[in-house]
Amino acid sequence: MAQLWGGRFTKETDQLVYRFNASISFDKKFYRQDMEGSIAHVKMLGKQGILTEAEAREISSAIKGMLQEVEEGTLEISHEYEDIHSFVEAVLIERLGDVGKKLHTGRSRNDQVALDMRLYIRQEVLEADSLLEGLLQAVLAVMEENTDTFMPGFTHLQKAQPVTLAHHMGAYFEMFKRDRQRMEDIYHRMNYCPLGSGALAGTTYDLDRYDTAAQMGFAGPTLNSMDGVSDRDYLIEFLSALSTIMMHLSRFSEEVIIWNSNEYQFVEIDDAYSTGSSIMPQKKNPDIAELVRGKTGRVYGALMSLLTTMKGIPLAYNKDMQEDKELTFDAIDTVKGCLALFTGMLSTMKFQKDRMEASAKHGFTNATDAADYLVNHGVPFRDAHGIVGKLVLYCIEKNVAIDDLDLEELKQISPVFEKDIFEAVSMETCVEKRLTIGAPGQKAMEQVIALEKGYLSHDWKESIADWETQLLE
Ligand code: ARG
Repeated sequence: MAQLWGGRFTKETDQLVYRFNASISFDKKFYRQDMEGSIAHVKMLGKQGILTEAEAREISSAIKGMLQEVEEGTLEISHEYEDIHSFVEAVLIERLGDVGKKLHTGRSRNDQVALDMRLYIRQEVLEADSLLEGLLQAVLAVMEENTDTFMPGFTHLQKAQPVTLAHHMGAYFEMFKRDRQRMEDIYHRMNYCPLGSGALAGTTYDLDRYDTAAQMGFAGPTLNSMDGVSDRDYLIEFLSALSTIMMHLSRFSEEVIIWNSNEYQFVEIDDAYSTGSSIMPQKKNPDIAELVRGKTGRVYGALMSLLTTMKGIPLAYNKDMQEDKELTFDAIDTVKGCLALFTGMLSTMKFQKDRMEASAKHGFTNATDAADYLVNHGVPFRDAHGIVGKLVLYCIEKNVAIDDLDLEELKQISPVFEKDIFEAVSMETCVEKRLTIGAPGQKAMEQVIALEKGYLSHDWKESIADWETQLLE
């Protein structure tokens, strides 16, 4: 057991209490951010004359050395310490003696952990954004190739009206685009530095909080020290945005699973992204899509868990907040894994265009267009609806599609039908007539694809300055 406190205690901490309390097994994940925060802090202490410039330099170069050693694997983060903060400080003191003991001047673990977690999650927001961008590229590639691949559009999982594969994919493009916008939003809202909030009431040292904020690429310092140490809104927002990503991925997965079934055969998942059965040799299972769908619950769970943890916490820091870490780490790791795998699965998946088109033809997806034909020839819509209903029933009995009937049969149902009905209800016409922006018609789709390409040609992350190289040089 190694801890930073103990002066006012007369007894050793009980072993079980120690283990229950310790967080090193998971907060070691942000060792890099902890060390970077300490470097920024100590540089500022030097500039402010709170430590001498020489002391500040000595401490920051020792921490840089430790960071390098941890990354190279020569310095192991020992679980003997209570948390990552204690570990870093202890090693520093071991190496520098009394000078090392000055690192924590004007700082509390409360603002330290608030900073570490923010730095860590801020980076994860960027990574999630990049993965979403990769997924959008994969979706767009399918769209570009399939503006004339007809397929049934569904409502209630019943064939409704014909669309194209490009159009269907375009719906997911919009969803993942909004998910990316949420990442950008969260990034900017969370980008304020809590360091310098102290335990809760700031400090009596003349800290320059603008300086530490700038060193770490924050837009500025947080403006209330009690909020600075106890705000976890940004995590809740992040988990909520991650849950939404999973909800979208899960819907998409559900479709892939249905489309990959023997009954549909709209897609074939690449061998590299499917698995077999130990007993049934014919099986090729969509496990990746199923796992993505399954893991959605786990990410929602993290959101519910943190919302519940936070709801009863009085200001300011309380130890309950330590619970924010494992679940957030698990959620982001899960989402990143799902995004990467789903993108791989999508970009290697084969779309069985013929099956999709045949399915669109044989499900009366052109029934609305047949009714519209009658309306255009003077039949009131409600009557047209009834006539085409009868027509569909007739076709079901004969087991044929509307376009398979001859004009005589059509005329028996309504004399209004003429030769041009066949063109009016052809798949091409049904889709191509839908030309307003957002509709599946090819021209409309091409306009949308051009807009989406324009959107993808600009990456908001490019405007983020590289603070890390500067801090560590
Ligand atoms: N491990 C703690 C956490 O994750 C760090 C902050 C500890 N502060 C304290 N006063 N005990 O929240």
